[in-house]
Amino acid sequence: MPGDGLVEIENTLEICAENIGDIVPEVYERFFALSPEAKVLMGHADEFMCGRMLNEVLTLFLNQEHLAPGAYLDWELDNHLLAYQATSKMYDAFFQALIETVRGGVGDAWTQADELAWNNAVSLILNHVHAHPAVKDT
Ligand code: HEM
Repeated sequence: MPGDGLVEIENTLEICAENIGDIVPEVYERFFALSPEAKVLMGHADEFMCGRMLNEVLTLFLNQEHLAPGAYLDWELDNHLLAYQATSKMYDAFFQALIETVRGGVGDAWTQADELAWNNAVSLILNHVHAHPAVKDT
């Protein structure tokens, strides 16, 4: 159900920030290692732009209204898939990079409930991404 797992997501992000500080560099390092094509596409994005993008991504978890038909995520997908030529595989890679960074940052305190919460929240977003009409690679 939308909203489930929010406590775990907020909690793990806080622990992660305490343990490793700013997650932006690691998320993008992992993202670009998983998707060299995305690295090319984002070649001229600086750390501030990357930070703003990650902030927007996090709002998708915190505000389920963003996933409603025609709402923020759909608008952003139109933008990214059509204007930037982003692909759904790049989204898969981005969210994999995000989960791996947070899981690693939380370390031994990571629980099964955290794993479930992140997997559910990311699946909701990725299902939406893969079903978007502008997706060409799936
Ligand atoms: C749901 C996931 C995503 C969200 C919410 C999101 C959001 C954003 C936002 C808000 C910006 C503009 C930042 C600013 O200039 O203030 C941006 C820029 C950008 N994003 Fe994303 N993004 C997402 C995923 C991706 C993915 C998977 C890619 C694949 C490569 C991507 C590629 C880009 C590119 C190329 C730019 C522009 C960079 C530039 O102008 O140099 N984004 N994104």
